[in-house]
Amino acid sequence: MVTTEYRASGSIPEVVLEARGITKVFPGLTALDNVDFKIYAGCVNALVGENGAGKSTLMKVLSGVYPQNAGEIFLAGQQVVFQNTKQAQDSGIAIIHQELNLFPYLSVAENIYLGREFTDRFGLVDYRRMLKESKSLLKRMELDIEPSQLVAHLRVGERQLVEIAKALSLNARVIIMDEPTSAISDKEVEILFRLISVLKDNGVAIVYISHKLDEVFQIGDLITIMRDGKTIISSRSLADFSQDDVIRMMVGRDLSSLKSRDSHLIDECMFEVKDISLADPQNPNSMLLDKVSFKVNRGEVLGIFGLMGAGRTELLETIFGVRGDVYTGEICVKGYRVSIKSPQEAIELGIGYVPEDRKEQGFIPKMAVGHNISLSSIKRCERNMLLQGDLEKALVLRYIERLNIRTLGFRQLAESLSGGNQQKVILAKWLATEPRILLLDEPTRGIDIGAKREIYHFINELTKQGVSIVMVSSELPEILALSDRIVVLSEGKKTGEFTKDQASEDIIMKAAIPRSLRVRQ
Ligand SMILES: Nc1ncnc2c1ncn2[C@@H]1O[C@H](COP(=O)(O)OP(=O)(O)OP(=O)(O)O)[C@@H](O)[C@H]1O
Ligand SMILES: [Mg+2]
Repeated sequence: MVTTEYRASGSIPEVVLEARGITKVFPGLTALDNVDFKIYAGCVNALVGENGAGKSTLMKVLSGVYPQNAGEIFLAGQQVVFQNTKQAQDSGIAIIHQELNLFPYLSVAENIYLGREFTDRFGLVDYRRMLKESKSLLKRMELDIEPSQLVAHLRVGERQLVEIAKALSLNARVIIMDEPTSAISDKEVEILFRLISVLKDNGVAIVYISHKLDEVFQIGDLITIMRDGKTIISSRSLADFSQDDVIRMMVGRDLSSLKSRDSHLIDECMFEVKDISLADPQNPNSMLLDKVSFKVNRGEVLGIFGLMGAGRTELLETIFGVRGDVYTGEICVKGYRVSIKSPQEAIELGIGYVPEDRKEQGFIPKMAVGHNISLSSIKRCERNMLLQGDLEKALVLRYIERLNIRTLGFRQLAESLSGGNQQKVILAKWLATEPRILLLDEPTRGIDIGAKREIYHFINELTKQGVSIVMVSSELPEILALSDRIVVLSEGKKTGEFTKDQASEDIIMKAAIPRSLRVRQ
C-alpha cells in the first residue's frame, strides 16, 4: 500500500512534537525499538496497537516519565530532553494516563490543581479560587461533578473525566489521551469528542490511544500503528485505511468477525436473586437497586446491560458481598437460600468476581504477576497445609498461556505489565479459583481486539464446563454475541429481560433509557 505522509487540505499542519528513533529497554525486554512518531498540531493523532505493543511506554517517554535509551525528541523543531514530567508539562505536554493517577483522599479541585495551587496575597493556598476555577472548568465540560467532593467518592468514569479536566486546565499544546473512554458513558464520550474538536480548532495536538477502532475512525486524522515495540506505519492519513487494514497491521493476521457463541445452557437453576434492593448509603431515601430479580442456569451467560448509573456494578458488588449486609432480598445458590455478607463467603459458595476497577480492587501492583494470579486460589496449591511452589507455578503458567498474557514470567512485577495485560491478570486470578458462578464486570475493558476474541472463546469454554456467568458490559455487540439472556437495568430497576432471539440493539437501548428521559409518544 502506498500512502503519503499526512497533508491537510490547504495549509500544511505543523509538527509540534516529534520522536526520532526512540528505543526503550526494560530489564529483559525492549519495549520500544527505534520508533518514529510525528505529532501534528490541530490534528487527532491516533495511536493503536495490541496490548503490550508499546503505546503507553512511548507516551511516557514523550512526557518525561522516564528517559529513553536512544533516540531524540523535538519540540517545535528544537531538540528537548525532559528530566521529569514537570518539565514536559511546563513545555505544554499534558498526559491523561491509562492507569488513573488521582489522589482519592484529595478533593476534585485539589487534584486538578495539584502542584500548581493558587495562592492568596499571603502566600496561602486559595481554596476558594481553586473551587471556583474547577467549577467553571467542569461546567464547560458539561459535567455534574462537585469540585469539593473527595475523588474516593467518584465512580471510575467520573475519575476519568476529572483526569481529562485536569489535562484541559493545563492549556497544553499537546494532550496525550491514553484510553480516555474506557470507563465513560456514551454521553460523556460525546462531550469529550466535542471538546476535542474545539481543542483542534485552537491548534492543540491530540494523541489518541484507543482499542475502540470505531472511535479512532470517527475522530482520527492520522494514524500510527505499533506492533511489538516497532511502528508498522507512522503518522499516515487515516483516510487511506479501512478498519480491516488497521486490524491486520495491528495483529499481523485477519480476525474473523464477532459471531454469537453456541449455547451450552442446561435447564437447571444455579443461581437466583429475588427482590434485591440496596439503599444509597449517602442518601438513604434513594435506591441504588430496587427489587431486582433474575435466575441463571447452569452453563448460561446472563448479560446485564444498563447505562452509567443504572446499578450494574452495585448489583454485582451486592451479590459478591462487597456491600456487606445492607441489602434486602434473597440470594439462592442451587436452590438453597444463602447469606452473603462478605467476599469470603461468596468465594466459599463458588462465586468469582472480576471487578470493574482493576486499580482499586483485586490487583496488587507491587507483587509479582504469578502471586497476583494465585492469590485467591492459593489453597489449591497447598499439600498438608504447606504451599507447594511447583503447584503454584504450574497453575500460574497455565493461565498465562491460556489468556496469552504478555509477561517476562512469574516474577515480573504486576505494575510493569501493560494496561491490558494487567486486566488479563485479574481475569486469570478469578478463573484460577474455578468458580461455579462467575461475575464479570466489563471483562474486556482496555483489552485489544485479538485478546477480546480469546476471552470470548474462554467464556464459551467455561460455559461448556457448566459454569454460569453473569456479565456486565457496556458494549452492546459484546452483550448480544455472548449472552443467552439479557437483563436490562435502568435507575436501579429491572426494565427488561430478553432471550437471545428476542434481543436487538434497539430493544435493549429502549429499555435502558431512564423513564425520565424517554420521549413521550
Ligand atoms: N516499568 C516497566 N518495567 C518493565 N516492563 C515494562 C514497564 N512498563 C512497560 N513494560 C513492558 O513494556 C511493554 C509495552 O508496554 P506498554 O504499557 O507500553 O503497552 P501498551 O501498548 O500501552 O499496551 P496496552 O494496550 O495493554 O495498554 C510491555 O511488555 C510491558 O510489560
Ligand atoms: Mg497502555
